[in-house]
Amino acid sequence: SSDHLRHVESMAQLPSGARRISHLNAVILGASLASEENDLVFPSHDFSRQALVSSPEQYRKMYESSIEDPAGFWSEIASQFYWNNKWDPEVYSENIDVRKGTVKLEWFKGGRTNITYNALDRNIEAGNGGKVAIYWEGNEPGDDGQLTYAQLLEKVCQLANYLKHVGVRKGDAVVIYLPMLMELPIAMLACARIGAVHSVVFAGFSAESLAQRIIDCKPKVVITCNAVRRGSKAIHLKEIVDGALIESVKNGVSVGLCLTLENKSAMKREDSKWQEGRDVWWQDVVPQFPIKCSVEWVDAEDPLFLLYTSGSTGKPKGVLHTTGGYMVYSAATFKYAFDYKPSDIYWCTADCGWITGHSYVTYGPLLNGATVVVFEGAPNYPDSGRCWDIVDKYKVTIFYTAPTLVRSLMREGDEYVTRYHRKSLRVLGSVGEPINPSAWRWFYNVVGDSRCPISDTWWQTETGGFMITPLPGAWPQKPGSATFPFFGIQPVIVDEKGNEIEGECSGYLCIKKSWPGAFRTLYGDHERYETTYFKPFAGYYFSGDGCSRDKDGYFWLTGRVDDVINVSGHRIGTAEVESALVSHPHCAEAAVVGVEHEIKGQGIYAFVTLVEGIPYSEELRKSLVLAVRNQIGAFAAPDKIHWAPGLPKTRSGKIMRRILRKIASGQLDELGDTSTLADPGVMDQLIALRDCQ
Ligand code: WT7
Repeated sequence: SSDHLRHVESMAQLPSGARRISHLNAVILGASLASEENDLVFPSHDFSRQALVSSPEQYRKMYESSIEDPAGFWSEIASQFYWNNKWDPEVYSENIDVRKGTVKLEWFKGGRTNITYNALDRNIEAGNGGKVAIYWEGNEPGDDGQLTYAQLLEKVCQLANYLKHVGVRKGDAVVIYLPMLMELPIAMLACARIGAVHSVVFAGFSAESLAQRIIDCKPKVVITCNAVRRGSKAIHLKEIVDGALIESVKNGVSVGLCLTLENKSAMKREDSKWQEGRDVWWQDVVPQFPIKCSVEWVDAEDPLFLLYTSGSTGKPKGVLHTTGGYMVYSAATFKYAFDYKPSDIYWCTADCGWITGHSYVTYGPLLNGATVVVFEGAPNYPDSGRCWDIVDKYKVTIFYTAPTLVRSLMREGDEYVTRYHRKSLRVLGSVGEPINPSAWRWFYNVVGDSRCPISDTWWQTETGGFMITPLPGAWPQKPGSATFPFFGIQPVIVDEKGNEIEGECSGYLCIKKSWPGAFRTLYGDHERYETTYFKPFAGYYFSGDGCSRDKDGYFWLTGRVDDVINVSGHRIGTAEVESALVSHPHCAEAAVVGVEHEIKGQGIYAFVTLVEGIPYSEELRKSLVLAVRNQIGAFAAPDKIHWAPGLPKTRSGKIMRRILRKIASGQLDELGDTSTLADPGVMDQLIALRDCQ
């Protein structure tokens, strides 16, 4: 009965209606949340005493001041950074109400700054040039490196100078397709130094997905490497980029330069495919450039980066973040949610290809002058103790990861953990999906020796930084709850009609008012920005998540309520997977739903119908999965293909996903009302075929 999430999960799967929510409410609060809700885990006195925010009262005071006087609260934090020119007297202006016209958010407008200057030069000038900025740990144990702040700045400047030399100017896009080498944060920081807009594409995306992003943002340069080792495999990244660039040309977007890092440990340059005139080896050019590079001062509202994420349609959304507000927000959230102190060694296992790697590998920590561990490898290579080996090696104090990793290591047994000391750890963090209480407990008791508070940070690509998160010294925690809002954040739970509901309740999670780290638009599609996020509940930002609040005011995130699924913390649109499946010549129609998965949180369950006359076979199943791997990436490969001669549809032709979710999760006695089906006969076929494939 402890995993209330299992009950709550169904929220995403049911037609929402006020009635439904109140029923859900009863289920959660009556049956299982009640036990979790009373399960408080207190930070130790020693921890709280030294913490930046050490009591609920102190949190409340700061929170209230952030809500009553946002301009004062945020400008005080912003003043800790260097601004070449101060912002306009007005700290922010916002319209988040679609009924009042265009949604427009601005923070620190008129202020001129540079995020790389603030992350590097400013910390060096404060006397921290000799402090380690990055410890890099390679895929192979023993393969490692490090850069001090001063050395990192030199590397960043050399690349920045090179990019300027090849004609990259303020506002130009640069696509970065790199694994977790030091060059990945270096490339991000180099772009930001010259005002170029980086768009990092996770190096697990396929050529098709990379091409889609390149076609959308039309970069001047693509930065990649020839190959990478993951666990015991070598992946030829450059070949994927080659494919993407060919595809882009076909779509009228021709990228003139592909800067390629030779990643010698994975592949020699002689073995790499090469296109003269377009491809350039990083090592041949970048080191020749000066180690100093002047700063491009940009407006607080000038774009910093684009990051594509999945929505409920097939086309990924280019989430655009600007400079000033994002800088202030990523830095402040990092500091408070992890109770950061200058002596900390911080490790976040996320890849810079996702927002977590932007805000909490690169910008947030470096803006705070932190020492960051960047890990290239896999957590189970050479064995499942690798993470704790790294924790001991670098004396990591703050360890931030995803529930899926916690669950997968939990399954391997405690010995892999207890073999290592882990005495350096003092704060743990979780992100990407709700952490189920049993995984929370294992993380807390076994990994953290019941000593380290867990910051379960709820946020999104769109929010730029943490929104609902524990401040580890302030509050007693409840395993599985992200606790309370960060400073300046006003979360509200609304019902079906968009009315705020108070007290103990369940509904849709929205945010009232803007915050500095909020995204400003979807690149090239401001209309979609408004429609997706601000129209569903006018007057609010709609997160796409369901949420409940318990009697003590703790927030419990319950998962997406839209057609987005969360697989191992990776956000995948069901429509994207469907469109990949139907691109297969033998697939007539596809409907994809998320289904509970022990390790990944959600797995991908795909129903397919085939083109007339094509028989279903194991071979066809494999090639359907391959189609998804090729179109999106291996991480989006369906766990299950369920062939069916027909899909359940309403008379108007709409696929009834509610029913498909029930079939996928085996809840065959809960199919509900099927009387509106156009052809009730398809149900029996579907169920009959469920287990024989
Ligand atoms: C979605 C955002 C933000 C970094 C990683 C994912 C889910 C994220 C939590 C959490 C419950 C969470 C939500 C959200 N999510 N963190 N701590 N508890 N759910 O970023 O790819 O933009 O996905 O991830 O459903 O909407 P993203």
